[in-house]
Amino acid sequence: MKFADLPQFLSASGTLGLPGSKSISNRVLLLAALAEGVTEVRDLLSSDDTARMLEALHVLGVAVQSLGAGAWRVEGVAGGFPVKEAALFLGNAGTAFRPLAAVLALVGGDYRLEGVERMHERPIGDLVDALRQLGAEIDYLGNPGYPPLHVKPAQIRAGRTLKVRGDVSSQFLTGLLMALPLAGETITVEVVGELISKPYIEITLATMARFGVVVQRDGWRAFTVLAGSRYVSPGTIYVEGDASSASYFLALGAIGGGPVRVEGVGKDSIQGDVRFAEALGQMGALIEMGPNWMEASRPEGGLVGIDLDCNHIPDAAMTLATTALFAKGATTLRNIASWRVKETDRIAAMAAELRKLGAVVEEGEDYIRVIPVERLVSPPEGIDTYDDHRMAMCFSLAAFGTPLRINDPHCVAKTFPDYFERFASVTKAAPVIAIDGPSASGKGTVAGRVAAALGFSYLDSGALYRLTALAACRAGVAWDDEPAVAAIAAQLDVVFEGEDIFLDGALVGDAIRTEEMSAGASKVAVMPAVREALLFRQRVFNKAPGLVGDGRDMGSVVFPKAQLKVFLTASAEARAERRYKQLIEKGFSANLADLLEDLRQRDERDAQRSVAPLRQEPDAKLLDTTHLTVEQAVKQVLDWAAEALK
Ligand code: DC
Repeated sequence: MKFADLPQFLSASGTLGLPGSKSISNRVLLLAALAEGVTEVRDLLSSDDTARMLEALHVLGVAVQSLGAGAWRVEGVAGGFPVKEAALFLGNAGTAFRPLAAVLALVGGDYRLEGVERMHERPIGDLVDALRQLGAEIDYLGNPGYPPLHVKPAQIRAGRTLKVRGDVSSQFLTGLLMALPLAGETITVEVVGELISKPYIEITLATMARFGVVVQRDGWRAFTVLAGSRYVSPGTIYVEGDASSASYFLALGAIGGGPVRVEGVGKDSIQGDVRFAEALGQMGALIEMGPNWMEASRPEGGLVGIDLDCNHIPDAAMTLATTALFAKGATTLRNIASWRVKETDRIAAMAAELRKLGAVVEEGEDYIRVIPVERLVSPPEGIDTYDDHRMAMCFSLAAFGTPLRINDPHCVAKTFPDYFERFASVTKAAPVIAIDGPSASGKGTVAGRVAAALGFSYLDSGALYRLTALAACRAGVAWDDEPAVAAIAAQLDVVFEGEDIFLDGALVGDAIRTEEMSAGASKVAVMPAVREALLFRQRVFNKAPGLVGDGRDMGSVVFPKAQLKVFLTASAEARAERRYKQLIEKGFSANLADLLEDLRQRDERDAQRSVAPLRQEPDAKLLDTTHLTVEQAVKQVLDWAAEALK
């Protein structure tokens, strides 16, 4: 399993251009393919979902060509596709699957449409029922009511009124409306039940209008496509920035100070999710908007919880659920039943992961209530993302409260492939000073004093390896039994309290400082599984206001983005002498020659091991303390820190 480890962030501000809207991108591609004439699509979203649509159009014989930098040239086929028999794989892209199913059912041909397992669990029966009213022939290849589908050539009977349910997914109505101009006659669609996610229908109608088809409507109840309607290319069309993607950054501004400004979508947008900004405003956020941009900042006194019907912002509402972690009082999001049939059951997933952070969550069939807690906890197993891009993006906000591991973060590629890089570009991570160096170089003493001077926390990473060796010893596990030692490392019950360390609830004291445990730590530290097990345990120290970490791989592996990296060393003789004095002071017996020999062996092992060997990073500053006092070494690091943390 892959993961993204996020440091706690202290603040958020900045400006960023948004990737293109997923909903608009896939609608524009399909209509450009069906239209008369050539369309140049600019600012198309580059993501998994649009890749599925582009691939499907290519398979159907549509000439689509990348012009670079988000621009595409689509040669319209004016109605029917050249390829009359094809199998299409549409991944988990609902915005490709539903409209393509409708269009292919009406254009005539023999087509198989399938997707990933989750796509096959997302209902499509209401759309199929509506298409069958027109005479379409569609078989279910798996479970009735769900993809995969087999669409067969059929005699389409137009000139009537169709009924479609509106209360499961607005994509059924979208698919039908986009397909109806292909039927060639006047057809009215009546919506049965409360139409959900209405803003997405607005996007559909607005995009169809850009391609020359104006749908007559009776409010949200009935929509009529007139005979003679046909799609005509508008020439060049620009895709707006994604308003749902904007929600994460506006929320960042609202919780992290701001202002955070997103460009590419604003007041003039056709996307309903821009109204997320209003919801954030109700929570108290300061919102500014221009025609093509939006901006959010934290209000004086912080955010407050809200009780909101989210029918108009189903996707962006997810962002409110994690923003709620940083508001005063409970937040209740209502009318979100559609969450249950999205990329995953989003109500259940959201509730489960919020609870892992310590929040109190109540969930119902169509609502979720989030009651925040003073201090978030960072689950060692990480936040699961359920192959749902929005889960990954929403939970990144929680890093304002705690360092966080997000599992399988690559799911963001569905709509926002470089999300985490953009996230990093507008957030200010809690700073890290990484001090690496060989045994007994004095880095522990220096690191501890630097941390105290700056008011930062201090991580003695060597202690974790020593504790692992000690715990293995106590459990009767041999130091070279990698899986068993790694299991012990993963489950270490350790609490650091100031200078004191508690293992399994008992004070450890000098039990990890003996020469035996030094040797054991050095042995267990060469094993990759042990290092992996201790990785996140170290990264959770990366919290506000900052951290000084000492060890062997602080700057290379654990905190590669550390604001300051120091390689602190001293001659082997000087180090042996320091260790000798330390041991004698603590009342242990010691022999200088043996200590020197031991140190050399340990240096060798630390430097030669294949994982995370001890070495000076190219961007680390060298501090040789052979002839320096502790005070001089501390001052040097503090001087560098003043520069690096400016
Ligand atoms: O710094 P120390 O002597 O307490 O470290 C004990 C052992 O743990 C040492 O042999 C090297 C290993 N270690 C490591 O491999 N990586 C770290 N980040 C810290 C210590």
